[in-house]
Amino acid sequence: MAAKGEILELKRNSSSSSGNNWDRIVNDVVRIEKRLFPKHESLAKSFEEELRKKNAGLLYLEVDGEVAGYVMYAWPSSLCASITKLAVKESCQRQGHGGSLLRAAIQKCRERKVQRVTLHVDPLRAPAMNLYKKSGFQVDSLVRGYYSSDRDAYRMFLDFDAD
Ligand SMILES: CC(C)(COP(=O)(O)OP(=O)(O)OC[C@H]1O[C@@H](n2cnc3c(N)ncnc32)[C@H](O)[C@@H]1OP(=O)(O)O)[C@@H](O)C(=O)NCCC(=O)NCCS
Repeated sequence: MAAKGEILELKRNSSSSSGNNWDRIVNDVVRIEKRLFPKHESLAKSFEEELRKKNAGLLYLEVDGEVAGYVMYAWPSSLCASITKLAVKESCQRQGHGGSLLRAAIQKCRERKVQRVTLHVDPLRAPAMNLYKKSGFQVDSLVRGYYSSDRDAYRMFLDFDAD
């Protein structure tokens, strides 16, 4: 049975000194990051820095008081946003959480009134490829050497209808 979870937003001005969760969340995220991504692709070292950037946000899924997954997004311009990370810890995968996190991040991007959401994904990451395609993303191009000299990425995009 799927574990229930709550998707929350990490607030940038949070700090452990004000009695909230920033440190715990970042530690949990970094732990998952280290398990699921090779070193060169992992944001483990620079996560705090990334999160404190102005045009970036992190949504995390909490299950039983622990972070079970997260999605990072950024809106570098008023036209375009990007999903910069998506991960669900192994023991919680295949329960619909990845889809829920991605939908929540897309909604956040939509609220920014951008026209397009982009992302990069290693074509060999079949679960992620399937999830992105299922969520309406289309392949734009293959970016050679994106992750490392021998690891390419698909650049994918999702356009919002003008309304
Ligand atoms: C990609 C990832 C976030 C999916 O999370 P998840 O919680 O397992 O995904 P969901 O349960 O919401 O599944 C949604 C869809 O993803 C696809 N999918 C998920 N796991 C899959 C698997 N093992 N094999 C094939 N497709 C899979 C399916 O299309 C699935 O829809 P379905 O259940 O109707 O078949 C998770 O596998 C993960 O963290 N992987 C490692 C990190 C990663 O690759 N991140 C993306 C980097 S760009």
